[in-house]
Amino acid sequence: MNQKEQWTNRLGFILAAAGSAIGLGAIWKFPYVAGTSGGGAFFLLFLLFTIVIGLPLLLAEFTIGRSTQKEAISAYKAIAPGTLWPWVGRLGVATSFILLSFYSVVGGWILIYLIRAFTGQLMGQPYEALFREVIGHPAGAVSAQFAFMLITSWVVARGVQNGIESANKYMMPTLFILFLVLMIRSLTLEGAMEGVAFFLLPDFSKLNAEAILYAMGQSFFSLSVGVSVMVTYSSYLAKNENLVRSAGSIVGLNLLVSLFAGLAIFPAVFSLGVEPTAGPGLLFIVLPSVFEQIPLGSLFLLIFLALFLFATLTSAFSLLEIIVASIAKGDEQKRKKLSWVIGFLIFLAGIPSALSYGLLADIQLFGKSIFDAADYLVSNILLPLGALLIAIFVPFKMKRAVLIEELQATTSIGKKMFLLWLMLLKYVAPIAIILVFLHMLGVF
Ligand code: PFF
Repeated sequence: MNQKEQWTNRLGFILAAAGSAIGLGAIWKFPYVAGTSGGGAFFLLFLLFTIVIGLPLLLAEFTIGRSTQKEAISAYKAIAPGTLWPWVGRLGVATSFILLSFYSVVGGWILIYLIRAFTGQLMGQPYEALFREVIGHPAGAVSAQFAFMLITSWVVARGVQNGIESANKYMMPTLFILFLVLMIRSLTLEGAMEGVAFFLLPDFSKLNAEAILYAMGQSFFSLSVGVSVMVTYSSYLAKNENLVRSAGSIVGLNLLVSLFAGLAIFPAVFSLGVEPTAGPGLLFIVLPSVFEQIPLGSLFLLIFLALFLFATLTSAFSLLEIIVASIAKGDEQKRKKLSWVIGFLIFLAGIPSALSYGLLADIQLFGKSIFDAADYLVSNILLPLGALLIAIFVPFKMKRAVLIEELQATTSIGKKMFLLWLMLLKYVAPIAIILVFLHMLGVF
């Protein structure tokens, strides 16, 4: 069955896809890794991988989704019937399920912080102990995760246009404005430049193999590629909309927000002489103590938490949507029910992650907590594997005429770029991803 619903226009699509891309990756993971892995050098590397591998993969997913107008599993079936390729879609659905199960745990923490910020129970606390308490309190963490999934299911149940598109239409512009306010505040603090230098001055001596691999993984995660989420989102795009320009806007917005995040966080951190500790605690422990020291700090902290929540939610919508769409297959009635049922199942699956800092703290999988093991499985194995398969699928399984038509590669520059794109997909992306896997297996 063909999809019935479509985005209202190209902007609706761009905002939703950028909403999927911009999330914990850009705001939570990127700043602390960049800060400790060579600053500007890491950023340059991330930029390079984003353009050379991330962008081509994003376009690859777009061509699969838009040409078939079908959700993640049926799209592969339509192009390569009777083969094993639909398993790439199934892999994406499974990856999304696992990813959302722990993504929603962090969403829950943000909700708790936001409620505390509103009720005045955040400022002035011993922040490290508070963070431990929030993530370690079993009932608190689980119910907050439940609330986060409730919001996500509610939006997805409302449909592509009325739910996902309209939520993104408000949340994404608000996110940008809030980020601008925050960044200006941060950059105008005394001594802010030290933070800018820490974040952006390239220190190539810190670029080891780990950092290089991390920059690549981050470029996939951050653009939501490898999961077929972008296949699903682009299947709702009208045929006459330009895919290359849309992809360019999405990549540009994602890079911009990664830059904003670093420029909002580090100048404040340095200006107030706080240690820019590495690790996920940066946002939850360091930032409140930084905001505490500036005038109207509680307001700025509230702004930060709100934008952080918006970014996380808009990514969560896309993760739930791919699963719901792949089962509902265009049936509106089914989709409503499925959004709630699958949202609930994801909540259940996420409970062990939510408890992994409290009740289940002693349980280790491959030497990691349950939360970290799930993150590792998705970010370092499933996502790159999906990306590898998509990079092979598009150039080898799709008809060249279809690709040319989808990308409107008709001018002479267009044709050259098209060939370059195919080369990047056929050779550069697979080789880079395989090198990462070999490194992980300890081959070099
Ligand atoms: N891009 C999101 C982030 O950076 O937080 C994470 C993500 C969402 C990855 C959706 C993959 C995906 F399909």
